[in-house]
Amino acid sequence: MKRVLTGYRPTGRLHLGHLVGNLQNMLEMQAKYDSYFFVADWHALTTDYADTTGLIDYTTEMVLDWLAYGLDPEKSTMYRQSDVPEVAEFALYLGMLTPIAWLERNPTYKEQLAELKNKEIATFGFIGYPVLQAADIMIVRGEMVPVGEDQLPHLELTREIARRFNHIYGDYLTEPQAILSKGKRVPGTDGRKMSKSYGNAIFLTDEPEVIGKKVRKMITDPARVRRDDLGHPEVCSVFAMHGIFTKEESERIEAQCRSAELGCTDCKDLLGRSISDALAGFRERRAKLSAHPELAEEALEAGAAKVREIAAGTIKDVRARMNICRTK
Ligand code: TRP
Ligand code: SF4
Repeated sequence: MKRVLTGYRPTGRLHLGHLVGNLQNMLEMQAKYDSYFFVADWHALTTDYADTTGLIDYTTEMVLDWLAYGLDPEKSTMYRQSDVPEVAEFALYLGMLTPIAWLERNPTYKEQLAELKNKEIATFGFIGYPVLQAADIMIVRGEMVPVGEDQLPHLELTREIARRFNHIYGDYLTEPQAILSKGKRVPGTDGRKMSKSYGNAIFLTDEPEVIGKKVRKMITDPARVRRDDLGHPEVCSVFAMHGIFTKEESERIEAQCRSAELGCTDCKDLLGRSISDALAGFRERRAKLSAHPELAEEALEAGAAKVREIAAGTIKDVRARMNICRTK
């Protein structure tokens, strides 16, 4: 079985954007591949080193969401990046041979530097995070990495670093392949991309009443002021969400919106119910798991024990090739 790996920063409870973007993918990978899912807590430090208060709780919340969604520690290996110190050592070695110019031309670096003006992120750690990511992937000899379009340059960098290492120290590292994930963009309640930091997210753990309220506040077709104005579903986030959660009725909703047969309030209530129904099973399992947060820690510990063994093997080989130790 091919080995696939992906990591996520601990951001706490997951929302609908994660469901469509990540969790569905992870479940598919779990069924098809030897899967490694890790909590990228060191990566969280690259932009948020100044506020680390949430790291531990966010990790637990996220992993409980994984478990409730059906990711199974018996089938997938789940671990926390910082439980595998070999990753840091490997990143140090890879950093030695990574030209600064490669990091400076990383589009995410430039973008985030411009965007996150309120944080001092022109740091060594932040510009170097693709090196850490390369270490994450190659320490477990990941063969495939599911990525969104925006993450492609990072994976390319991992491949370049692998080639450079192999060129200098002899063929050893495997260049990972990207699997481009077919991530649909999920609009938040304000129409922007759904994100916890925008305050526009519907969380997987939200109760049906909360979901209903959030959906009711969603922005619809701005041209539809009165009930009998004709609607334009193509500009409406509520309709975009129906396309994900009320697929079978999408055509009917579209037609009845255009003809003003369907009012926005009813349309939203229907969406609220669709989302709540889609999450019913998750919500039930998640509520049970909330009483047992130790299950998250147990899954991570078991995963770390397994990954540390693999990582120790990689580090031993890497050291030998770099003449760091005498046991060649
Ligand atoms: N870069 C990703 C992020 O910041 C997380 C990540 C870290 C990752 N290491 C990885 C993803 C390795 C895939 C493979 O969210
Ligand atoms: Fe949007 Fe539904 Fe209102 Fe049409 S009826 S504008 S799809 S909320």
